[in-house]
Amino acid sequence: MSPQIRPRRLRSTAAMRRLVGETSLEPRHLVLPMFVADGIDEPRPIESMPGVQQHTADSLRAAAADAVAAGVGGLMLFGVPDAAHKDGQGSGADDPDGVLNRALRQLRSDLGDSTVLMADTCLDEFTDHGHCGVLDAQGRVDNDATLERYRSMAVAQAEAGAHLLGPSGMMDGQVAAIRDALDLAGFDDTGILAYTAKYASAFYGPFREAVGSSLEGDRRTYQQDAANRREALRELALDLAEGADMVMVKPAMSYLDILADVAAESDVPVAAYQISGEYSMITAAAERGWIDRDAAIVESLLSIRRAGADIVLTYWAAEVAGAR
Ligand code: PBG
Repeated sequence: MSPQIRPRRLRSTAAMRRLVGETSLEPRHLVLPMFVADGIDEPRPIESMPGVQQHTADSLRAAAADAVAAGVGGLMLFGVPDAAHKDGQGSGADDPDGVLNRALRQLRSDLGDSTVLMADTCLDEFTDHGHCGVLDAQGRVDNDATLERYRSMAVAQAEAGAHLLGPSGMMDGQVAAIRDALDLAGFDDTGILAYTAKYASAFYGPFREAVGSSLEGDRRTYQQDAANRREALRELALDLAEGADMVMVKPAMSYLDILADVAAESDVPVAAYQISGEYSMITAAAERGWIDRDAAIVESLLSIRRAGADIVLTYWAAEVAGAR
């Protein structure tokens, strides 16, 4: 008689499934993106991301401390300046007194090296036109002029205490430019988490509310086209050659093939960003009682880890870490 090959044996009890699970989700794998805003007296809920808020300087400190106590692997900070403080150059980005740099300084002094403090190194929150770079006379995003701004922003963020910078603007040469600026300023320990394959995505919608974005139009001249897969490996080769310490794929769920490709090729740690729209979709469906919220959250995060992410940026980082 032939042996009875039954894969279901390994699914027969919860203990058996736990024993043979290939992928795990630990607090250290999760990074919490956080928003800190100027000009508010108390935390301001983000309507399209129920449960996520723009923090005041004080509420940020408390929430960051809680997340770190729950064991998250790191924090990724975004700054939301007053509309009145935005300009064409995004001057608030490299101003040591800008909202993001102040918050970085405070958190680094609160938390020291107990977590990995990350900063979004991009101009879009700080420009009055909302683009990730500065514009040329024709109103196009000027790649190389933008790199000069990123260099300055990177040094300001390193000075403020960020351990890891996340250039998210998809300018060509941004990793090399930032690495060079950091090294020249003596910040050779400050790392770069490169947004390697970042796609122009409709799923960023809620984030635009989260940061009070001024953008009209789109980012299709610098972010990647959803139709393209091979191109992500070209971006990966460039970022690695330019000195990226870690690489990232973004968004996550609609780009798991890209994530798997990048994870197979990368010799540095790979992150994926479960973005605002992914958060909002699950939250909205759960609010309607259409899906089981907690199960959907864990499944979505497991799928991102399974596809190859060592690290996942998710707005549920603290909750999932604490709920364990
Ligand atoms: C741009 C930036 C965006 C996000 C992170 N950095 C938005 C965009 O590219 O339009 C999106 C994050 C999210 O949607 O959760 N600096």
